[in-house]
Amino acid sequence: MLKLSVIGTGYLGATHAAAMSSLGFEVVGVDVDQKKIELLNQGKVPFYEPGLEDLLLAEVNSGRLKFTTDFAQIKDCDVHFICVGTPQKKDGLAADLTYVDASIASVAPHAKAGSLIVGKSTVPVGTAGRLASMLREVNEKVELAWNPEFLREGFAVEDTLRPNRLVVGVTSDRAEEILKEVYASLLKDGVPWIRADLPTAELVKVAANSFLATKISFINAMAEICEASGGDVTVLAKAIGYDPRIGSRFLQAGIGFGGGCLPKDIRAFMARSEELGAKQSLEFLREIDSINMRARARVIDLVRIDIGQDLKGKKIAVLGAAFKPDSDDVRDSPALDIAVQLSQAGANVSVHDPKAIEPARARFAHLDFSESIEGCIAGADVILHLTEWKIYREINPSAIKSQVKQAIIIDGRNALDRDLWVKAGWKFRALGRA
Ligand code: UGA
Repeated sequence: MLKLSVIGTGYLGATHAAAMSSLGFEVVGVDVDQKKIELLNQGKVPFYEPGLEDLLLAEVNSGRLKFTTDFAQIKDCDVHFICVGTPQKKDGLAADLTYVDASIASVAPHAKAGSLIVGKSTVPVGTAGRLASMLREVNEKVELAWNPEFLREGFAVEDTLRPNRLVVGVTSDRAEEILKEVYASLLKDGVPWIRADLPTAELVKVAANSFLATKISFINAMAEICEASGGDVTVLAKAIGYDPRIGSRFLQAGIGFGGGCLPKDIRAFMARSEELGAKQSLEFLREIDSINMRARARVIDLVRIDIGQDLKGKKIAVLGAAFKPDSDDVRDSPALDIAVQLSQAGANVSVHDPKAIEPARARFAHLDFSESIEGCIAGADVILHLTEWKIYREINPSAIKSQVKQAIIIDGRNALDRDLWVKAGWKFRALGRA
């Protein structure tokens, strides 16, 4: 049985390590963050991801899965998965590759002859080629492959163990054979396998995320047109989605996409296209980004229509801080961005989230956070529904009406039952529904 190492233990790495261990492999997870390693070794996940903690605990207890900060512990491993982050650079649109470069530099001296380093992080096309040359200089007996990851937060375990495809960028048959051995049980289940060269494998990932971002911004552009013309984007989305060439998923209009992936990936892709002399090809992504950012501003416009231009002293209840439900990730969260902008405009903003209050507070300590929905909405002039957690759909609008100052709700995710709220006497507004 192969032995595996996983470098980087964030959403991607921690999930990958636990999932590979559950397939029967011995796995060493490596991270530079000592605190995180201690938690993981106790079977605790330092973030919220449904199903991951149970899996992690079982795998740590099985003895197959261990975490360490010591790179020397990977010396017996046959495959090393690079799962570190590639955030947006502080001073531009491009991806910051510091962590990827550092991982290769840390793994290379310890990797045994014949082992395979496999990049899973999302990188600009051309990165794998550059890293392969870097690797040749340090340890020529080790090969590099790229195997992009398509997991969604909130479904990380499911997507890792039952992906809709496996894409491997390789430069030899041997590298492909090793990866087929790693993923043998998934292949047996019929998961499609795509062999590609290194640049294509890198591109598949950013192309997929760009397409998803485009789909979301497309429907949000339609929402703007619906608002201008009296249409209803939820009906429009349903109707076009029945065409199988279009498909109904990722057509949920609202405050748009956020998180640690889609926004930074389309920006890094634009930056890379410029370096490649192909700027025009991805110029449309600039508009995708603008439409996305505009959706946040449109919610604030709706607030002003209802409670007045001057927001000073107005109480605004924000339901949701995470960038999407079933996650406590607040990186580039549209909900939090809106909350911050309203607070800067002088409103008294109270934010609720079932899981993301602590990570949100760590970034925006000046916002007021509430542990309960009741506390959040008490005395509110308007409620904004900005992350579509299930518990918000279960709110009884009649029961909470007496707790607010003005019964006005803005559904920023088009996920609430409008008729229910209207029947209960609320003024109900939503993006893209006149
Ligand atoms: C995304 C991709 O979906 C994954 O396939 C990919 O592996 C991952 O990025 C990554 O690159 O690591 P994720 O960031 O977890 O996954 O989130 P998504 O489910 O794609 O949602 C992104 C954002 O779009 C969220 O803010 C969500 O609220 C928003 N969204 C999604 C909409 O506004 N409308 C929709 O119809 C769908």
